Amino acid sequence: MAIDIAVIPVAGHGTRLLPATKSQPKEMLPVGRKPVVQYIVEELTNSQIRRILFITGASKTSIENHFDIDERLINYLRESGREEELAELDFERKDVEYFYTRQRRQLGLGHAVLCAKSLVGQQPFVVALGDSIIGINAKSDIVQRMVEQFETAKADVVVAFEEVPRNEVVRYGIAAPRGPIGDIFELQDVIEKPSESEAPSNLAVAARYVFSPAIFDELATTKPGKGGEIQLTDAMRSLLKKGAKGIGLRLPASEPRFDIGNYESYYQAFVDFALADPDHGPALREHLKRTLK
Ligand code: UTP
Repeated sequence: MAIDIAVIPVAGHGTRLLPATKSQPKEMLPVGRKPVVQYIVEELTNSQIRRILFITGASKTSIENHFDIDERLINYLRESGREEELAELDFERKDVEYFYTRQRRQLGLGHAVLCAKSLVGQQPFVVALGDSIIGINAKSDIVQRMVEQFETAKADVVVAFEEVPRNEVVRYGIAAPRGPIGDIFELQDVIEKPSESEAPSNLAVAARYVFSPAIFDELATTKPGKGGEIQLTDAMRSLLKKGAKGIGLRLPASEPRFDIGNYESYYQAFVDFALADPDHGPALREHLKRTLK
């Protein structure tokens, strides 16, 4: 059966974006016209995902509210003849089922994924990090391509990677390929934050994964690593070390990853999306030209 379930972890504290994230999730911050998670859901549903499980936490209820059908608002807009604004709520009617569970203690991304175990059970599934958009306006079918590879190569782990400058590899989890690197390559290992000279490639983990349910057993026995958190990368490495088949897919330049987790890349993402806005992008471009003169 085709993979139709995705887990979106959104329970992190988002400390790098304080004070903006004190009482609202970073995953609800707007990038252009939409909050981050809306882009992620649109990307996933365009890749045939039909069930979405959010791993949420305290002060994240606005995510659930966002995907609910708001009859009062719909009626208000309908009665006042505001069809254009009404169309902005079409995403509420997507053919997708939403599930929510709480990560009751923020013990890291790996622990958040482990919270999905009871619902996901014994089936392969997608993980899409709640703070990264792939492609301008989420125009990417990377997840669909990853799922296809997962199935045809009978893989256990498929990971998306983005190229980063060599002098920045120390900030990321970096792919150690087995054999040559093409757009699709065999993944031997992932090295966390290597130095420039030790880095086996300049391909950084890019927020999208497909896993066989075997990852849950690894996560359950993974000891807390950096910062006392259970790391998803540690569980993935341990699975690969046991001989599990790993595949890497390189994001094409036309589908960049926008990381919303820190102010530098959040600002850049916002500007890129705002510039791509068909109504307001051209005026913003002129404004920026004047400001930067
Ligand atoms: P990050 O690694 O960016 O962690 O999470 P964070 O806690 O959100 O942010 P900082 O470092 O404090 O600024 C990547 C994704 O994993 C989720 C986050 O919500 C984010 O979407 N996550 C992280 C969890 O769901 N639970 C966790 O315990 C940690």
